[in-house]
Amino acid sequence: PPGPWSLPIVGNLLQLGEYPHLSFIQMRKKYGDVSLLKLGMVPVVVVNGLEMAKQVLLRDEESFAGRPKMHTFSFFADEKRLTFSVEYGESWKLHKKIASKALRSFSKSEAKLLEEHVCAEASALVKRFLELSSAKGAFEPTSITTCIVANVVCALCFGKRYEYNDEEFLISMLRINTDFLKATSIINPADFMPWFRYLPIPIVKAAQGFYEVLNNFIAQRVEEHYTTYDKNHLRDITDALISLRNDKRLGGKAPVLSNDKIITTVNDIFGAGSFNMLFWIFLYLVKNPDIQTKIQEEIEDEKIGLRSPRFDDRKDLHYTEAFISEVLRHTSFIPLTIPYRATKETFLSGYLIPKDTCIFVNMYQVNHDETLWENADLFRPERFLNENGELNKGLIEKVLVFGMGIRKCLGEDVAWNEIFIILTNILQQLRLQKCLEDQLDLTPKYGLSMKPKPYQIQVALRT
Ligand code: HEM
Repeated sequence: PPGPWSLPIVGNLLQLGEYPHLSFIQMRKKYGDVSLLKLGMVPVVVVNGLEMAKQVLLRDEESFAGRPKMHTFSFFADEKRLTFSVEYGESWKLHKKIASKALRSFSKSEAKLLEEHVCAEASALVKRFLELSSAKGAFEPTSITTCIVANVVCALCFGKRYEYNDEEFLISMLRINTDFLKATSIINPADFMPWFRYLPIPIVKAAQGFYEVLNNFIAQRVEEHYTTYDKNHLRDITDALISLRNDKRLGGKAPVLSNDKIITTVNDIFGAGSFNMLFWIFLYLVKNPDIQTKIQEEIEDEKIGLRSPRFDDRKDLHYTEAFISEVLRHTSFIPLTIPYRATKETFLSGYLIPKDTCIFVNMYQVNHDETLWENADLFRPERFLNENGELNKGLIEKVLVFGMGIRKCLGEDVAWNEIFIILTNILQQLRLQKCLEDQLDLTPKYGLSMKPKPYQIQVALRT
């Protein structure tokens, strides 16, 4: 594929700027949907455009389903991992199926487990927001939100929640979150220039720090489960995985799930389940008070009244669903999919892509493509509603934030349900306001998962 000229050794690394996904949009204007960069010594194919993204992610599901060997992921990327595993094949496919089954059995609405935990966390968050507000006036909502989201995924994985004054938990969660963001905060030069790995600089070391803290946290809890496991009473995802391991012949032919694989699977679900989306939700709410009012009116019109909102209410709260879709689209806070690797020699848009080539898919571009979205840079939840105020599901499906195909996110339903319950609980009881002096900048801090710049909010109890 065509692409810009590159320098020796560093390739195009210096041309990526602070926001590589935006630089890729500029490149697309010149070179089209498929272009070639050199990051250090490594050739990388960059893919823009919904149709081309589908070609990569959906065509035969296998040609591009590998992950490249990268320094950032090397700490998490042994053959036992789901998300970052370099190897792709039958064993990986079975692993994903098992993880999906374990997650589904505890998150589907009939199981009620996720719903109960999310509702409990949402109430705790309302209470904590009020406490912080009366103690400090204005406060930054991100630390407490990190703990709320971590608590939901803890409950799913280990059947246990933590108090917000549990220092060990709080420190572990914040450290994991900060180190992960630091590790993935730019395109890491150590991924593309091997000698960089030996330099004692934070970006190179952060991934390791993140991995060690997360792994210790998870391994300890999985070990506890081995001793208290009861096959007649499965409490959570870890128990479900132990049970699947004990089923020696899964589907008649599958290999046994090893102890290590149980830890790494929980690790994958736990890591991915600790997402940042709520930081953005609160920011957009304080920035758009009129939108906040519309969601509050919808909660009242749909007669939820003072009862706790449930997953099932999603089908009736169209404007609220449109708002969440628009935050996902507008922020595209995970701008690129996790990098892919060609598992075999393949043609893409007429270009030969050799086996093992690394591929970046620019989801941000798809979500800001003017041919798909009118005034793409405007934040406008109404774009997802028809004239009767009903959701345009076809358009929602065009928002590309969870990936597509065989590597698609496992937690899409969990994430949607969790965001919906927390958002509606908060707005049912509280009014969120910005601090007068706060400019509320929507420019993100770049990363695999982008975070807003620090901001403060104030809350008032609704009467
Ligand atoms: C708004 C929240 C979330 C977003 C935007 C999101 C998005 C993504 C994206 C873009 C990927 C990579 C897809 C690719 O490589 O093409 C991914 C992978 C994954 N996500 Fe999520 N995710 C979210 C929440 C969650 C939650 C709550 C869980 C679990 C409870 C989860 C579990 C996973 C797993 C296990 C993978 C790895 C899939 C694989 O490599 O096959 N995610 N997610």
